[in-house]
Amino acid sequence: MSLRQKTLELQKRMHNALEGGGTQAIEKQKATGKKTARERILTLLDPNSFHEYDLFVEHAGKDFDMDKKYLPGDGVITGTGTINGYPVCIYAQDFTVAGGSLGYMHAKKITKIMDQAMKLKVPIIGINDSGGARIQEGVNSLAGYGEIFYRNTQASGVIPQISVILGPCAGGAVYSPALTDFVFVVDKISKMFITGPEVIKTVLGEEISMEELGGARVQSEISGNAHFFALSEDECFEQIKKLVSYIPWNNTKTAESFPSKSPKTKEYKISSIFPTDSKQPYDVRDIIKAVADDSEFLEVQELFAPNIVIGFGRIDGKSVGFVANQPLVLAGVLDVDSSDKAARFIRFCDAFNIPLVTFVDLPGYLPGVDQEHAGVIRHGAKILYAYSEATVPKITVILRKAYGGGYIAMCSHHLKADFVFAWPTAEIAVMGPEGAAKIIFKNEIQNAENPEEMRKLKIKEYQEKFANPYVAAAYGYIDAVIEPGQTRNMLIHALKISVSKTESHLPKKHGIPPF
Ligand code: HXC
Repeated sequence: MSLRQKTLELQKRMHNALEGGGTQAIEKQKATGKKTARERILTLLDPNSFHEYDLFVEHAGKDFDMDKKYLPGDGVITGTGTINGYPVCIYAQDFTVAGGSLGYMHAKKITKIMDQAMKLKVPIIGINDSGGARIQEGVNSLAGYGEIFYRNTQASGVIPQISVILGPCAGGAVYSPALTDFVFVVDKISKMFITGPEVIKTVLGEEISMEELGGARVQSEISGNAHFFALSEDECFEQIKKLVSYIPWNNTKTAESFPSKSPKTKEYKISSIFPTDSKQPYDVRDIIKAVADDSEFLEVQELFAPNIVIGFGRIDGKSVGFVANQPLVLAGVLDVDSSDKAARFIRFCDAFNIPLVTFVDLPGYLPGVDQEHAGVIRHGAKILYAYSEATVPKITVILRKAYGGGYIAMCSHHLKADFVFAWPTAEIAVMGPEGAAKIIFKNEIQNAENPEEMRKLKIKEYQEKFANPYVAAAYGYIDAVIEPGQTRNMLIHALKISVSKTESHLPKKHGIPPF
């Protein structure tokens, strides 16, 4: 055969493989508002940057007449490319080919590109759209999942791992996304569950739709399994592009620097955002925007546990991870979900050299039987562990309340924050003035001629003594009491001065966090 003939044969083979599951299956996919796997990759990556590998891999199924079937690419597309110049390894399951189900070779393709990502030290992005373990391939499918989960764990903290759920992700398949750093979902398209509606109906007699059981909203608002919620696939890809701009390629690098930009101080002016009445709530995201470059803030898990706010921004062109109590929701208390949410984010930032900026305004941990029984003790401990373990620069600003365990947990000096600043409005105490006065002045209040008057007097006395930043500052627990308008400058300085910070822990195989 001549070179020309061989080239034509290659083109023919490629053409067949690139057809995916065929016109009918592709039409069915599109009718549900979904792009095809290849379209997804091409939309997400820079134009002409995608290079596909293992296009000619064939499935290894022999039973149930599988040996007579041709499954192009075995239902998954793998390759490398860039997102605004940022290098990534990527795979996308092709639902038009055997429902994107995972057989032996399908899994091999995924684990090969994961190994490549770890070797090249670049992030891995997995687009999930699959009916789960390929039933015809039995234990080989299960083995494939196990190999993926193992690599997710090995890659954890070494390269960023991003999961995008653009279709069903059922059964044990959900555990690969759960082991990765960020899970993206799209309204009406993403569906994640371990056991589907049919099994639930059979076992428990309960009827529920796929959407209600594990749709994008449920995963974003209730379970907390998803980190980013979008209304369309295009919006989801824009979110991924934004995220990768804030994070480094791997754990030996820092995120890309951008030119410094001032915040939009007309829209986000601290003196207008922050209320004079100390009981009045405000949106802490506006405070973040008042200090962040160009007032840009990429919020993570926006819909889950909104009493704490986490996300990425830049200060003086450099990426930082913000963690902030949200006074708008439950007064910003720490509870089971908000502790989980913050702790995981802190660990991500620490693993990938992203400094942490913490804004504090909380009355403490949420009291109540529900929380105690849900394990607020062990969940609350996660945030203590994550901050204590983190060795990236840690800068804390106490805006208002820092009461009780909340004061300690929100990256106090005692957990080795590098800088703790407080606004003059800060109140640092074991508990709020009302509760405290009731306990320590119980007798005086009870025995007073006018107990109500006495109660108010004692609250005021306590407030004047403790509900300010100066007692903590007198012990050196606060490095500087600053005017709110100075916050950005102080952050810029603190980040600059701690750029070569190194800190190590006692030698150990690994810690045992309260998972
Ligand atoms: C083999 C599968 C498949 C699977 C779908 N297909 N899932 N083939 N193994 N797991 C095939 C279908 O036979 C069909 O092939 C094509 O994919 C499209 O599927 P449809 O059912 O026509 O599509 P749709 O109506 O959109 O329904 C999608 C679905 C449904 C909800 C995902 O296919 C479904 O319920 N599939 C099974 C889900 C499941 O129970 N998976 C196993 C989970 S257990 P044809 O040839 O007709 O086009 C698991 C264990 C993992 O994953 C454990 C790891 C630790």
